Amino acid sequence: MKAIYPGSFDPITLGHLDIIERGCRVFEQVIVAVLRNPHKTPLFSVQERLGQIRQSTQHLPNVEVDSFEGLTVNYAQMRQAQVLLRGLRALSDFEVELQMSHTNNTLSREIETVFLATSNEYSFLSSSQVKEIARFGGCVDHLVPQHVAIELYRCHEKNHLK
Ligand code: PNS
Repeated sequence: MKAIYPGSFDPITLGHLDIIERGCRVFEQVIVAVLRNPHKTPLFSVQERLGQIRQSTQHLPNVEVDSFEGLTVNYAQMRQAQVLLRGLRALSDFEVELQMSHTNNTLSREIETVFLATSNEYSFLSSSQVKEIARFGGCVDHLVPQHVAIELYRCHEKNHLK
């Protein structure tokens, strides 16, 4: 079975990577799909995020990294994937994720959302938090892959962090 793991990944965190690695053990192929969202101003461009994810997942042979725009279910159908993979952290995620999976289900009955519970150590980790910590000069080495941490520190030095 083929799964799409959609998201913003601005930037990818160790929590995302945990879901990707575990998803790879469940599904034959996992496509990590970065949403090209014209309504958001991300810290990292789509190309930068694709590079960060590719570097973080190079040890996983059944991962593909791609970007898409529009509805996730349309992209999943186009890629002939049957599953949308999402990680569930704390209870606060549950309502949003449940709503999103119901909405996606009304758009396409053939595509199922499968949730993996995020591992304990990452259950309160988010890309926004990581950016905030980096913005104030804090250490993010334990939260993101090493090469992403380096890029965040570079942004901090250049005062580019939003
Ligand atoms: O990493 P995120 O920001 O939590 O990911 C959210 C994402 C990209 C999965 C979600 O916003 C999405 O699927 N957007 C594409 C538009 C869409 O399909 N909307 C219908 C579902 S609510």
